[in-house]
Amino acid sequence: MRTLYFITSNKGKFLEAKEKLLPLGFSVVQKDLGYPEVQAESLEDVALQGITHVRMGFHEPFMLEDAGLFIEALHGFPGVYSKYVFFTIGLPGILRLLSGVKERKAIFRSVYAYSEPRKKPIIVFGECKGIISMKKQGTHGFGYDPIFIPDCAEKTFGEMTVEEKNQFSHRAKALEKLINVLKDSK
Ligand code: IMP
Repeated sequence: MRTLYFITSNKGKFLEAKEKLLPLGFSVVQKDLGYPEVQAESLEDVALQGITHVRMGFHEPFMLEDAGLFIEALHGFPGVYSKYVFFTIGLPGILRLLSGVKERKAIFRSVYAYSEPRKKPIIVFGECKGIISMKKQGTHGFGYDPIFIPDCAEKTFGEMTVEEKNQFSHRAKALEKLINVLKDSK
């Protein structure tokens, strides 16, 4: 069994990764080390800078993940600012910005970054297309889940179970890709 540390404070992200990686011989261990989420232009840059920071004090294989919501009518906002925007204007603020807007397309994007000492980091991406709902619906999940309806679904992530959300989610797709890379590198 290989130990793989997941640098995250988010229990939900950890449990999802743990369940998926266990059958592949990886024991995923959550490490809430924290790292500065620098203001960068892309999720990839945020993840890579996180890797650089964690590597300075931690010398085991680890992964971290960064995600964001990109709303077309708002030119990609909140994007890399998703966390800040969630804790400031929140869901009511986003719905207000879109009030009267018919074109409500949005994309959730996720980046997983995997690091092993002395090796180049591995970066994988996942995305989920959908629309922003007219109002908050559902109490499951976290963050923007209650206002995001993925394509091919009729309800928000906030109205779905974790298993349902994982069939669509940006993070599940990115994790699948990382698993394939790790499987090949075994
Ligand atoms: P982070 O990857 O944890 O930094 O997430 C950035 C922001 O996007 C946070 O405010 C999260 O709540 C939000 N976010 C990331 N992934 C999801 C998701 O799957 N559903 C809802 N919100 C998300």
